[in-house]
Parts: sequence; structure tokens; C-alpha cells
Amino acid sequence: MNTLFRTKTVEQSIKDTETPEYALRKSLSALDLTVFGVGVIIGTGIFVLTGKIAKETAGPAVALAFVVAGLVCGLAALCYAEFASTVPVAGSAYTFAYASLGELPAWIIGWDLVLELALGCAVVAVGWSGYLRSLLDTAGLDLPRALSGTHNGTFGFDLLACALILVLTCVLVAGMKLSSRVTNVIVAVKVTVVLLVIVVGAFFITGSNYKPFVPPAQPPQGGDGLQAPLAQLVFGFTPSNFGVMGIFTAAAVVFFAFIGFDIVATAAEETRDPQRDVPRGILGSLFVCTALYVAVSVVVTGMRKYTLLTVDAPLADAFKAVGHPFWAGLISFGAVVGLTSVCLILLLGQSRVFFAMSRDGLLPRAFSRVHPRFGTPYRSTLLLGGVVALVAGFTSIDELAELVNIGTLFAFVVVAAGVVLLRRRRPDLPRSFRTPLVPFVPAVSVLASLWLMVNLPAETWLRFGIWMVVGVVIYFTYGRRHSRVPSENA
Ligand code: ALA
Repeated sequence: MNTLFRTKTVEQSIKDTETPEYALRKSLSALDLTVFGVGVIIGTGIFVLTGKIAKETAGPAVALAFVVAGLVCGLAALCYAEFASTVPVAGSAYTFAYASLGELPAWIIGWDLVLELALGCAVVAVGWSGYLRSLLDTAGLDLPRALSGTHNGTFGFDLLACALILVLTCVLVAGMKLSSRVTNVIVAVKVTVVLLVIVVGAFFITGSNYKPFVPPAQPPQGGDGLQAPLAQLVFGFTPSNFGVMGIFTAAAVVFFAFIGFDIVATAAEETRDPQRDVPRGILGSLFVCTALYVAVSVVVTGMRKYTLLTVDAPLADAFKAVGHPFWAGLISFGAVVGLTSVCLILLLGQSRVFFAMSRDGLLPRAFSRVHPRFGTPYRSTLLLGGVVALVAGFTSIDELAELVNIGTLFAFVVVAAGVVLLRRRRPDLPRSFRTPLVPFVPAVSVLASLWLMVNLPAETWLRFGIWMVVGVVIYFTYGRRHSRVPSENA
């Protein structure tokens, strides 16, 4: 029984990373981490979901939804930063949980991170493929429908999404150095395009488009029962879109746009000075992205009445609507380039979490061998790349994004709780970054994450529950017996 809660000491976690055969190369700085963070954070969320959510759930108040989601992430970031600066080892929330809460909770978190990272990566690849098809279409090149992904229930294999993941997997196997250089260029293109949307778009704002800023609540079209947010069902509200409740429902979905800042923590082991640079990287990238998101959503809902925004490529289409197809093309190009880096880093984060779990014996140890020449965990990268490529080829975006959100928010809850526990159990550990006002800030972080979780559809909760039950079964049939952490740590 006690083995369920055996913890891996922080010293042991750090020592593991020093065994040469299983050690990653340390080459990243704070700036690299911030670029890395921005590289994964800005993606499908702002390029795709903004339009859908403004149109269907929040109106121009989508900007407020971004503020709400940004605040929830900011609170979580304060907790992540303390953990990451205390336990600078690959694996993110998984490693943190192992050091503070124990093995079973750590396994649950690692399993849960698959939702965030691998599924998130598949979702972004599908979004990427949509943008690329729209660019190809402009150039007069059409893919056959059967290879263009699933649309409105009609199945099609998503060839481009699948190919993207396979190429990125090879880049990752070849080494961190190469992938971070590629990432830098991509991030520059992406941020430039986002800034263009804000600066150029500002000239086309029409004040009347902001009225009403918070549209009155109205019943959802065809979506009740399991599709209604859990909060509305549990607290007995009539399910509705728009209005004040709509802002929170919207926040729970646009939260996807912020996913990724926590992944900076997964690169802690590859950072030169993790104690100082990881907190800076996490908070820095989160701050930059929140500011950009609010600005983009204010501009776009000002350019075009929210009811007229499109769902697939809202930023580009807003420019087309005001008669500027050139800017629209440029934005689509930036989206294609930008989403590539999001996929790359999500895949990287996933292979690192998997690597850490395998190094601990909770997954087969063979996956944690690093490549003798490249110094990368090539086996876990190849395995996950293959699986994600298949998922990306065979699924469509919508419901998966919500599942990614609930998984990530759940990880936030565990990390915030873990900060408090680790302070109690190991007050002696050096912490280069300390979460302010403990336990108040972690407690608020837990509540805020839970609040967004209950604003997701009941259906999403159901899927999440099934996923977690499968994970627990795997732990009891494999991980528990193969764990390398001694039982006396219980
Ligand atoms: N935050 C990332 C995106 O918006 C996952 O695509």
C-alpha cells in the first residue's frame, strides 16, 4: 500500500540526470527558454479558436476570456516556477509530483500529460494542415478529399498533418541543438505576423463592432445535455452561450492558447542554469503571450462584427473582409510556419516526460536510453512520434482540444498542491524561485484551475475519467512492480 506514495527524493532525481548514459546535454539559456515558450504557446488557440469562440460563445468579450485564462495560467506559472527551480529535471509536473506527492499521483500526472502534449500536438498538426491546404488552394493545388482530413463527420485521412509529425520526429531525434535553432527562426516569423495583425488591423477597427461588448445570454444551438458545461449542469443554470457565464465557458476553451508555458519546465534538465533561468523563461513567455492575445482579440473583434467572424481562419479572413487579401495571405503563411513550432515543442515535451517515466521504471526502461551520438532520447521520441502521427492523421480537432484542456488544468491542480506539500516536507531544499504567499497563491491556483475545468462540457469530463481509469490500470499491472524507486522511500 505504502509504495503507492513512495517519493523519489529531489537529490535522487538530480543524481539520475548525471548518469552519463541517461543524461541530456545542457545547452539552453533563459532567452532560449522564453523563445521556446513563445514558440509553443502561440498557435492554434489564437489563430483558430479566437474566431470560433467570439462568434459562438463570448462575442467581443473573448478578450476578457483571454484575460481570465491568462490569470489562471499566471497563478499556475508561479507554482510551476518554484517547482521547476527546485527540481530541475526533465519531466515537468510528473517529476514535481514524484518528488512531493508520491508515485501513484506522479504516474497519474505523467499519464495525464499525454493528453496535454501528445493529443495537443495532434490537434495543432490538424490545424496546421488546414492552414496549409488553404494556402495550397490559393496556389491552385488541391489535395484529394480522401487525404484532406475529417470534415463534418466525413472521414478523410489527414496526410499533411501525419507527414508533419513524422518530419518533426526526425528533427527531434537529430538533436536539441538543431531543433532550437529552427525554433528561433519560426518564432520570429510567428511573432512578427501576430504583431502585424495588431498594428495593421488597428487601422480597420470600427467602434460599433464592439456593441454589445458582452452579448446577452442565449440558449446554445443544439448543444445541451452532455455538451453543456459541467458548472451549468451542476449548479442548475439553464445552459447558455454569451452573457457573463459565456466569458468563463470561453475562457475554458481559449485556455488552449496558453498551453505550453509549463513545457518550458520540461526542458529544465537541458538548461545551463535552471535555478535562475527556468522561472524567468516560464513567466516571461506567459506575459508576452497574454499581452499579444488580448491585443489580437480586441483588434479582430473590432475589425469585424463577431457574428461575421469565420471559424477556420478568422484572423486572415478579417483582413480579406476589409479588402486586404495580401495581408490575409501573409497571416496564413505565418500561421503555417508558427504552428510547426508548436507541434515540434509539444512533441519534444511529450518525449521528455515519457523519457523521465521510463528512466524511473514506470514504463519500460528501454525507452530512456539516449542516442550515443545525438544525446537525445531517440526511442521514446520515435515511439511517440509514430503514435501522434497516426492520431493526427485519423482525428478531427474540436472535442480533442477540450480534452487537452481538462488534462492540462488537472496537472496545474496537482502542481499547485505539490508546492505546498514540498514546502512542508522539504523546507530545507534551496529554492531559487519561491511562489509568493504560500499557501494562499497555490490554493487560489487550485480553485481557479478547477473553476475552468467545471466550465468544460460534461462529455469532456467523461472522456477524461475513462482515460484516467485506463492509466491507473496500467500502473497497477506494470509501473508499480517495475519502479526503480526503493520501497523504503514510502
Ligand atoms: N498554445 C498552443 C496553441 O495555441 C497549444 O496551439
